[in-house]
Amino acid sequence: MRNPTVLASGFLGTGFDLMKRVVQEGGAGAVTMKSIGPRERMGHPNPSVVEWKHGILNAVGLPSPGYKNMEEEWAGLEKRTFPLIASIYGASVEEFAEVAKAVALHRPEAIEVNISCPNTKCEGQVFGVNEEASASVVKAVKKEIGEIPLIAKLTPQAWNIGAIAKSCEGTGADAICAINTVAGMLIDADARKPVLANMFGGVSGPAVKPIALKCVYQIYESVKTPILGMGGISNGRDAIEMVMAGATAVGIGSAVHYRGFDVFKRVCGEMEQWMEENKVKSLEEIRGCAHG
Ligand SMILES: Cc1cc2nc3c(=O)[nH]c(=O)nc-3n(C[C@H](O)[C@H](O)[C@H](O)COP(=O)(O)O)c2cc1C
Repeated sequence: MRNPTVLASGFLGTGFDLMKRVVQEGGAGAVTMKSIGPRERMGHPNPSVVEWKHGILNAVGLPSPGYKNMEEEWAGLEKRTFPLIASIYGASVEEFAEVAKAVALHRPEAIEVNISCPNTKCEGQVFGVNEEASASVVKAVKKEIGEIPLIAKLTPQAWNIGAIAKSCEGTGADAICAINTVAGMLIDADARKPVLANMFGGVSGPAVKPIALKCVYQIYESVKTPILGMGGISNGRDAIEMVMAGATAVGIGSAVHYRGFDVFKRVCGEMEQWMEENKVKSLEEIRGCAHG
């Protein structure tokens, strides 16, 4: 990666042309695709994304064309000159393995396993809140993708996120990504109803920054693998703080909406400025420094 910023999954990550722009004009060091599922899925009805005072609340519901209907997109992506992270999800360990096998044929630079989704074989419990469930997904996916680096994307809903990260590292994760959105809802006082058609959704943006920092901090204490830290990063200072918690690279999603798609370039510039002002020569010098 030419810089430590990564486009988070679910934002602009559809189609080669858009991704190329995010890299060339926007300045991202790598891009993550929208999570790919085992079959075509419409997602939740609208309203499914709302902006509020402190962030974004979404319940898009993992819409996906399904891995079998993406040949055109993959054909376009063959021309890429940037690092591509393919994100995948499934509703069971077997589905994760099935999607991973198909996606690996296209040789993305890494495969991110979105374990923040529900396991239908476990009464809809999110994989990522359970050490065994997380580990079994990582193990099954690693078996299918071989040498392609595997990133496990964790949910902040896990009370023991350090232990979850460790179980993923122990079963083949080459890196950990945190955090996915935080469960939440908004109610409209005038309408006397939930704002989202789905009632509940996931919170992202500035509101989740303290949660993300806490998770990355705990993960850093538990694993040796690199951490892709994300959640509420809007500017260079936020990114520097994430590195101080232990992140090697930083993901940016909601801030694309707030600051435009050249947010990556701007965040990098702001990080460099902070480093110059504070006489820090490389991020290595400050990585994890908040741990004392
Ligand atoms: C509209 C929307 C769609 C998202 N879709 C995905 C997705 O498909 N897969 C995934 O792993 N995360 C998804 N996320 C979560 C983001 O990748 C990221 O983890 C989260 O938004 C926190 O980062 P941020 O505060 O910079 O947005 C989505 C978030 C939003 C707001």
